Amino acid sequence: MSIQQEYITTGTSISTLQFPELLFVEDKLQIVLSKADGLIQQTCVSLLQSGGKRIRPLLTLYSGMCFAPLNPLMIEGAVAAELIHMASLIHDDVIDKSSTRRGKPTVNSLYGDHAAILTGDYLFAEAFNILSTHQLLSSMGYLVKAIQAMCEGEVNQANEQFSISLGLQHYFQRITKKTGELLAACCQSGAILAGATSEELALMRDYGLNIGYAYQITDDILDISGDSDALGKPVGADLMNGNITLPFLYLMDNPIYGEWLKEIIKTRKVSRQGIQSIKEALVSSGCLDQAYATATTCICKAKDSLSKLPKSPYRDTLAKLADSILLRTT
Ligand code: IPE
Ligand code: IPE
Ligand code: MG
Ligand code: MG
Repeated sequence: MSIQQEYITTGTSISTLQFPELLFVEDKLQIVLSKADGLIQQTCVSLLQSGGKRIRPLLTLYSGMCFAPLNPLMIEGAVAAELIHMASLIHDDVIDKSSTRRGKPTVNSLYGDHAAILTGDYLFAEAFNILSTHQLLSSMGYLVKAIQAMCEGEVNQANEQFSISLGLQHYFQRITKKTGELLAACCQSGAILAGATSEELALMRDYGLNIGYAYQITDDILDISGDSDALGKPVGADLMNGNITLPFLYLMDNPIYGEWLKEIIKTRKVSRQGIQSIKEALVSSGCLDQAYATATTCICKAKDSLSKLPKSPYRDTLAKLADSILLRTT
C-alpha cells in the first residue's frame, strides 16, 4: 500500500470538512467580480463559479479565528487573498500555455494572452482596492511580499526549464516563492487582523510555509500521477514544460532510472509516451512515495507550529486542513 493510500484510510478529505464562514467570502467575491465590465466580468465570474478549493481564504479566516471571533475585516482580507490567487492562476496559465483550469478552458486559450494578462492585472488591482479601502495595511504588506516572491519564483522557473543540475534546495526555494509565501501571508494576514502577537504571527508563518510546501509537492505529484478530469487541468504538463519537480528530482538520483531520465530531459522534448514510462518508473522506484513522505514531513512541521498556539477549535480545524492536503486529488 502506498503512503497516500495508507493515509486515505485514516484521514479526512478537504471536501468533507465544512466551512460555513466561507459563504461570506463567496458572496463578496461574486459581488466584486460582477461589477467588472464585459469580458473581464465574464471570465472572472466563470473562473469563480467553476470551483477551486478556496484554501487561501480559509487560511485567512481560520488563522484569524484562532485569536478572535470572526470580524468583517477578516472577510475582506480573505476575499483579497482569493482575488490575488485567481490573478496568479490566470497569469500562470499564460506562462504554462495551459488550456484548462478548474475544468473549463483558460482565459488565454479562449481570448489570448493579452486579455489574460490584463484580466489578472484587474484582479490584483481589485484586491488592493479592497485592502486599501478598509485600510488593511499590515495584511497588504504580507500579501505584497508574497506576490513579489510569486513573481520571482515563476520567472526563475521559466529560466530553469529542463535544467538537470538544480537540486533539492533549489526546488524548495522555488516552491517557497511560488506557493509557500502566499499561504503564509494568508495566515499572517488573518492572524494580525485578530490581534495576534509577534510570536503567534511567527508560528502562523511557519505553519503557512510548511503547508505551502506540502501543497505544491502534492500538486507536483498530481501533475504526473493524477486524473486530469478530477484536477480540471492538464496532467504531465510540468515535465513537458521542463519544470523539474520533486518526483523527478528523486528519480534523477535513482541508480536504475536516473541517467535514463536525465537523457530524456536533455532532449527538451517529452512525448505523451515518455510521460507514461516516466510515471511507471516513478511508481516502481518508490520516488512518488518518497515525495509523499516529504510532503508528510512538512505537514508534521506545520502541525508542530500550530501546537504551540493557544488551544481552540479553529486551531484543530487548521490541523485537519493540514492533514487533508496529503489527500488532495484535485
Ligand atoms: C493551484 O492552486 C496552484 C498551486 C499553488 C498549486 P489551487 O490548487 O489552490 O487551485 P484552486 O484554487 O483550488 O483551483
Ligand atoms: C503554481 O504552480 C503556480 C502559481 C504560483 C499560481 P503550478 O504551475 O504547478 O500550478 P498549476 O498546476 O498550474 O495549478
Ligand atoms: Mg501552471
Ligand atoms: Mg501544478
